[in-house]
Order: sequence, then structure tokens, then C-alpha cells
Amino acid sequence: MFFMFDTLEGYIQPGTEEEALVKQIDFSKLPVHLAIIMDGNGRWARKRNLPRTEGHKAGTESVKEVIEASARLGLKYLTLYAFSRENWKRPKEEVNTLWNLLKEYLGRDSKILIDNNLKLKVIGEKKGIPYFVRRELNRVERLTRNNERMTVILALNYGGRQEIIETVKKLLKRKFSPEEINEEIFSRYLDTAGLPDPDLLIRTSGEMRLSNFLLWQCAYTELWITPTLWPDFRKKELFQAIIEYQKRERRFGGLDTQA
Ligand code: FPP
Repeated sequence: MFFMFDTLEGYIQPGTEEEALVKQIDFSKLPVHLAIIMDGNGRWARKRNLPRTEGHKAGTESVKEVIEASARLGLKYLTLYAFSRENWKRPKEEVNTLWNLLKEYLGRDSKILIDNNLKLKVIGEKKGIPYFVRRELNRVERLTRNNERMTVILALNYGGRQEIIETVKKLLKRKFSPEEINEEIFSRYLDTAGLPDPDLLIRTSGEMRLSNFLLWQCAYTELWITPTLWPDFRKKELFQAIIEYQKRERRFGGLDTQA
């Protein structure tokens, strides 16, 4: 089925709470890069007496909705923390479910990315990703590499500290001298090379930590944490987060402009 995302028109029903929220968004000040720590799938399932894997399945629906809403809003980069280095410690069945869900998503919904001019990019240690998923990721990355509406970045087998260590190793292998190394050079050897740092980081399920996510890149990122569990996260909350973000004054360590 061919399915095109247009703008927000026709997507948001008139007279709804969502419409009232959209009216508060300043479209000239959108975050360019939104990153999300999708947390709470397990708790969502437990609350319903379901196996944790059902929480991950339900979470996939939120992934789809957030990709669509972000593209319609006009965001340029969306990074989703889908599998951390530490997630391997979970029971084998849960780990398998997560990789299978991703493989299914890529098989079934890659057409949505292609049809809507969205680019897929993976960050994280790719060679540790099971081959049956890696093959699909490579296929979709290749098919979407020239797309430019929005880039969907999946953090898979990703860890911020490991990424920093890998970057140091790359710099040493390339024989950089200490004098040559600066923030700009360092950023060029991270997995996120070429991507702007996230402007806004959303974390669901109320935990107040970074959990090894984009440690270097989030130095000045605005954080927005909601108690909502990831499978319940819908576009309405995405709009709320953006409105809150627009009320913040980003100083990047400098002084406030009124001072
Ligand atoms: C955190 O919830 C969520 C994850 C570890 C995985 C996120 C994966 C998905 C939403 C599904 C597949 C992704 C794509 C991109 C199609 P948790 O299990 O840590 O929840 P808990 O803290 O309540 O236990």
C-alpha cells in the first residue's frame, strides 16, 4: 500500500486537544534533532498481566506514530534508542523478540520510509547485531540513502561510552597528534558524524537518567521526561514536549540574553 505523509493538515482533527496544542507550536523554532529514550514497555505489559514481549510489540506502534508525526511536523532528525549494549543482559527470549520486531518492522514498513523520503541510519556497533537484522538494516539504509525529508536514526547495540572509546581508537589509528584533536575533529569520528547534536531529548516512563545514550552529543540538549510508558506515548505528548522545549532558553553555558 502506498502511504504518503503530507503535512499536519488532515492528520489532526479539528476541535481536538491535539489541534489546540499544534496551534501553540512555533514552526520557526522547531527542534532540528529530537532524540528519544523509549522506556517502560515492560511495565506497560506487567500492568496488563502480559509478558514483557507484548510491551515491546505495543511499543512498535508508538515508534510508527512518532516517526509519522515528526515527519509531518517538519523535524529533520529523529533518533530512537531501540537496543542498548546493556540490553543483551535480558532473557534470551526478550532479546530475540526485540530483534525479530525490528526485522519485521524493516520488512513491512520500510516502504513507508521509502515512499516518504525518509532516510534510515544506524548508530551503534553494527557487527554485533544479528545477521538477519543487519542484512535488512543495510538494505533499507541503501534504499533510503538519498532521501532528505527526515533522517530516522536507530541506536542499536549502542552505548555512549563505547562510542567514545571507539572514537579514541580511530583517532589513535589515524595517528592524530594531541594538538590536532579538538571537539570538531572528535565529532567527525563518532557514529553520529555529520548529524547535528540533539536539541531535545525525551525519555518516557519517568526515569531521570541518560542510560549511556548519546553522552557526548547531549552536552547541551534540553531534557523532557514524562511518566507516560512508551506504548502509551502518542503525538499529543510529542506536541507537548515541543511546546515546553520552545519555552526554554538555551544558553549553551553563556549568559541569558536579558542579563
Ligand atoms: C524499554 O522498555 C524499551 C526497549 C528496551 C526497546 C524499545 C523497542 C521497541 C519500542 C520496539 C522495536 C523498535 C523499533 C524501532 C521497531 P523496557 O523494556 O526497559 O521497560 P521497563 O523499564 O518497564 O522494563
